[in-house]
Amino acid sequence: MGKDVIIACDFSSAEKVYSFLDKFGEKRPFLKIGMELFYKEGSQMVKELKNRGHKIFLDLKLHDIPNTVRKAMFNIGAMDVDITNVHAAGGIRMMQEARLGLAEGAESKGYQPAQLIAVTQLTSTDQEMLETELLIKEPIADVVKKYAENAKKAGLDGVVCSPLEASIMRLLDLISVTPGIRLLGDSVNDQKRVSTPEGAKNMGSTYIVVGRSITAADNPLEAYERCVAEFCD
Ligand code: C5P
Repeated sequence: MGKDVIIACDFSSAEKVYSFLDKFGEKRPFLKIGMELFYKEGSQMVKELKNRGHKIFLDLKLHDIPNTVRKAMFNIGAMDVDITNVHAAGGIRMMQEARLGLAEGAESKGYQPAQLIAVTQLTSTDQEMLETELLIKEPIADVVKKYAENAKKAGLDGVVCSPLEASIMRLLDLISVTPGIRLLGDSVNDQKRVSTPEGAKNMGSTYIVVGRSITAADNPLEAYERCVAEFCD
């Protein structure tokens, strides 16, 4: 799998996802399914989207004891998703077990295992929260790098990060899946550090995750094609 644009399907029901996808005709874009939608619609919707020919990034950010994560990942592997993730804060052993569970689940159905990536620090975490609530005194950039190194040690494929961090991840030989993308002229909304698809390409992102620049566009297909042209070509 190479460079691609992943559409963040931040919709409240499967029905809304399907009617959004109707605008794409025969095109089958790579989709990100997060917790909101998954906890409502479950594996049935993932199966349906896979049957239609979409690749899926299942963004559930697992974080629990290693044994529980391994067993949960088995079930995710058996869903034939293409990318999924864990919190690096769960530690190296948890990430290793996640990798194993994912491979075992995929193998049980004869699928290729998904790429497994780690969340280093959520973008909602800032230096002050890190220090006063989590009692981590190091600069947040060092924490992000250390957690990415842990992901690498655990055998993961990459991380979710800002496009601005993609070049560091390349040095660690990790793929980067980068949200915080806006087409020129679009509203930044609640994102703090944004990049255009072309900027993300130049900074070395492997995949970009684009939500509202596509889902809230007057013409989502045209917005998607602009993202692909800027990022992939
Ligand atoms: O609409 P927008 O393009 O901002 O959506 C970005 C998507 O990426 C959302 O699904 C959001 O939850 C997700 N995300 C993010 N920042 C992170 C991790 C995930 O924006 N650090």
